[in-house]
Amino acid sequence: MRSDRETTAYNRLRMQVAPTTEQLLEIHGRIRACVACRLHVTRTQAVPGYGPVSARIMAVGEAPGEKEDQQGRPFVGAAGKLLTELVESIGLTRRDLYITNTVRCRPPGNRDPEPDEVTACSHFLDEQIALLRPDVILILGRHALLRLLPDSAGISRLHGERVVRHERTYVPLYHPAAALYNGSLRETLFADMARVRAYLDEAESLRAPRPQPSEPVNADQLSLFAL
Ligand code: URA
Repeated sequence: MRSDRETTAYNRLRMQVAPTTEQLLEIHGRIRACVACRLHVTRTQAVPGYGPVSARIMAVGEAPGEKEDQQGRPFVGAAGKLLTELVESIGLTRRDLYITNTVRCRPPGNRDPEPDEVTACSHFLDEQIALLRPDVILILGRHALLRLLPDSAGISRLHGERVVRHERTYVPLYHPAAALYNGSLRETLFADMARVRAYLDEAESLRAPRPQPSEPVNADQLSLFAL
């Protein structure tokens, strides 16, 4: 828990540097061109992430699936539809979220990402988190949990809990794909999401207004918002 003085210093620091869409697009460009691991050979295209640079919530999934690989956007399939429902259940929309994955290229046949593939992609996620500085990072499933909180307990213990590490707030959740055909997991996901609403309200009350990027918005930038 931050003291009042720490909170004030932290908010001052945040006010000094507004993240820009250009900076985010620059990271996206490097991800699209990345050939650091074997997944680039079989991808149709990389899936860097999607959402506004001003998003207060970041969601991190596992890896693009077939539809994501075709469309270049994360969570556009059935799991994405459930993610949208979850977000809407707490009065938000997908436009309030920046969504990305642990690896940015589809593993062939939707197999699990290999550790060296996760490592090769890792610095992109660090850069995106450092740029956006979201109030809450939703960790979707065990692969994202292993990547973001490697020393923590498993998802079945931590789901819905708020975990604060190095000034970042994480909430592990079951992966929406796991809940697609499991009614009780689905219920748990919605209950956990309701807790996220409370965490966000708390974060909101602690922070100063965030400066919005002042640069003009061009068509490429707008495409980040068009869902
Ligand atoms: N779509 C994604 O982009 N990531 C997942 O983890 C699952 C579906």
